[in-house]
Amino acid sequence: MMQISELSSSYAKVHLPAKVALAVTQKPDGNYNLITIEWFMRTSIQPPMFAISIGTNRYSYECLEHSRYFNLIFPASEQKALLSLCGSNSGREMDKFSAGEVSSFPGKLHKLPVLTEALACFECEVVTQVRSGDHVIYVGQVHYSWLNQDKELFYYRDNQNS
Ligand SMILES: Cc1cc2nc3c(=O)[nH]c(=O)nc-3n(C[C@H](O)[C@H](O)[C@H](O)COP(=O)(O)O)c2cc1C
Repeated sequence: MMQISELSSSYAKVHLPAKVALAVTQKPDGNYNLITIEWFMRTSIQPPMFAISIGTNRYSYECLEHSRYFNLIFPASEQKALLSLCGSNSGREMDKFSAGEVSSFPGKLHKLPVLTEALACFECEVVTQVRSGDHVIYVGQVHYSWLNQDKELFYYRDNQNS
């Protein structure tokens, strides 16, 4: 029977399994940061666009206010540890590229790193943004996309194991 419920109980029932991504941004000092994100979506076919929702208390928010580019990375199935690292530590205190021993090469748009071991990468330029409560939705136009044919997509299936 449908009954009124707490949002947290309803959401816990519906949000898994989920795709989880990483967003690469540029720090004000010129280095790069990584954040784990579940709140992202494709928003336009032509031109191709993706939106990502970033909390205003995240270091990634500061980075995006400073430099208007992000790489949206779709992780490979074996990258669970990197998703945990980037989802539970802030770039204010940790260089996640070194801590996660991330291998990468410079992309073609703004030289933001493309992760060598990921499944796919979309190089985006922020074209608009919308405040959404305690997050900001950044809409990015995709300029270049990358695919690693040897990899499979990571799915976030279980709170305990991800
Ligand atoms: C599975 C998972 C999904 C997440 N999704 C988001 C998200 O969509 N947006 C967001 O702002 N933070 C999200 N977070 C939290 C950030 O990844 C986390 O706060 C991170 O430490 C922020 O890093 P930063 O301060 O370097 O930007 C998620 C965390 C996890 C573990």
